[in-house]
Amino acid sequence: MIVNSVLQNTSVKFSHFVDMFTYPLRLSHYLELINPLWTKHSLQAKVVKVWDETKDSRTITLKPGRGWRNHRAGQHIRVGVAIDGMRHTRTYSISSAPNSKDGLITITVKAIPEGRASHYLVRKLKKGEYLPIGDPQGDFVIPDAIPVHPLFITAGSGITPIMSMLRNYSQEFRVLPDIQHIHYAPHAYDVIFGKELENLNKNQKNYNLNRIYTREFKGNDSGLQEANPNNIADKRSQNLHFHADQLEALCPDWREREVWACGPATLLDAVEEHWEKAGLSRKLHTERFRAKLIDTPTDEISSGQIKFSKSNVDTNSDGVTNILRVAEDAGLNPKHGCRMGICHGCDCKLVSGSVRDLRTGVVTNEPGETIQICVSASIGNIEVEI
Ligand code: FES
Repeated sequence: MIVNSVLQNTSVKFSHFVDMFTYPLRLSHYLELINPLWTKHSLQAKVVKVWDETKDSRTITLKPGRGWRNHRAGQHIRVGVAIDGMRHTRTYSISSAPNSKDGLITITVKAIPEGRASHYLVRKLKKGEYLPIGDPQGDFVIPDAIPVHPLFITAGSGITPIMSMLRNYSQEFRVLPDIQHIHYAPHAYDVIFGKELENLNKNQKNYNLNRIYTREFKGNDSGLQEANPNNIADKRSQNLHFHADQLEALCPDWREREVWACGPATLLDAVEEHWEKAGLSRKLHTERFRAKLIDTPTDEISSGQIKFSKSNVDTNSDGVTNILRVAEDAGLNPKHGCRMGICHGCDCKLVSGSVRDLRTGVVTNEPGETIQICVSASIGNIEVEI
């Protein structure tokens, strides 16, 4: 311990000493040229493996560099992707369990339609590349005092933070605690981590997985479970998406369970509504991929021109698309982080005109006011300090 701390102090003093001669750059900037994982000024990760999970999703194994602090199961990280000279930042859940012996982590990415960064990561990213990453963040985690009866509700790539939790459980316990899991996917072959989930279901008596294939009437083409084991959906308007009767049949004690749900907005909206009606919202934890937006009445939408004053670029806006996306489509690269209205990494000044917050509908029209461009759309002509 003492030796370690002496070495650490010596290395800090040495790097400060060298920084005096490399000013205005720091030693860390030169180290980046040799090995990006050695830098201190920005956290980087090396891609050590890519693995295609399904036709449109991929697990990327990363070796984070200096400064990485371990994550908690269920947390996410920001990942930077350079495409055609522009840096795009996206947020992805970590799918691996914390505290891996080899120091590696995984993220699992699904290519979404028109998703520039996700397409790059799923289709083009190569082993050996480096990606800038952020610290692990988020409170979609299981508290240290482990709940006795978790219910997981997931769909599509919403499985990723839950997979980290399941892997964490598997590392910690020989026998998993009582877990109910409902997972939705269009078809059996779309289930990310399908084999691993199936094995857990087979080998862990307390883990009960219900897979629901929303586009298969009777999906049993790969040995996976029937689309709906109780045929409830078949009898009732063939609705295979989340609904009250289905939940009651698959998990009759849902009221007693602490719930973690992750997936597309339609699923989470339905789940939130259901738990709210039951007066049990306090038991529900949700993780969204995108901000929850409200529907703007059509007669309030006003297209127009956006002037990006610092860049001297003018472009058209449909009055619905967020300003960050409009700027990127115009070839600009505004700073940003989560793209969900959480981190304020995209804050910038409104010079003139009005913008609407797409989550709340609140209109801002004060010149000089700070706006979050990832969740704001223009109303008519505006000017923004970008
Ligand atoms: S990018 Fe995080 S709030 Fe806009």
